[in-house]
Amino acid sequence: MGKRQVPKKILVAVTGASGMLYLQSFLTAIADLDLVVHGICSEAGQKVLGLEKGITPQDLPAVSTWFDCRDFGAPPASGSSGYDAMLVLPCSMGTLAAIAAGISANLIQRCADVMLKERKDLVLVVRETPFNRTHLKNMLAVHDAGAIICPPMPGYYLQPASLEEAADTFSWRLADQVGIDIPGRRRWGTEE
Ligand SMILES: Cc1cc2nc3c(=O)[nH]c(=O)nc-3n(C[C@H](O)[C@H](O)[C@H](O)COP(=O)(O)O)c2cc1C
Repeated sequence: MGKRQVPKKILVAVTGASGMLYLQSFLTAIADLDLVVHGICSEAGQKVLGLEKGITPQDLPAVSTWFDCRDFGAPPASGSSGYDAMLVLPCSMGTLAAIAAGISANLIQRCADVMLKERKDLVLVVRETPFNRTHLKNMLAVHDAGAIICPPMPGYYLQPASLEEAADTFSWRLADQVGIDIPGRRRWGTEE
């Protein structure tokens, strides 16, 4: 496969898994870049975002438009809308299961289904611990359908000094997955 195009238009879907630190880190990292970023947040996602960060989706940086998770008429529900990549960040086991089964019961699940059928980048930041057999089978199913399973596992070799720094190293890896170059990011083997 050739090098991926830099996405101009990306969709960030927030579900009700723990790990909103990673969402905030990623959106902050891409906030000043030349991208169109749209968002969808499930009801559970709003609850967990409030619990973990004390904010609403509208308080997050980078996202210019938030679509209602029940609105199947929103642009990204159609393959013709031209999104280059979609991240589900964080991705609950419930949403993972729905994507694996092609259920499309809300806008997030529908959009993920669209990305897979259009052969566009779909990255699932799945979060649960431990995983049961169903979770593992669903991850393999979506991997086989073309998605990238990218759990929030920071690398420690850059020696992050805080949770925030650790989350940032993960955000850089996430950006790599959808062809976004974050200026100034650290890469192993490129520093003195
Ligand atoms: C504080 C909190 C943390 C949660 N963490 C997780 C999690 O890490 N992974 C997960 O799969 N579900 C988690 N859940 C449960 C999901 O929110 C729940 O299954 C919900 O139905 C997911 O819906 P959604 O995928 O439409 O957002 C959590 C719920 C709460 C309230």
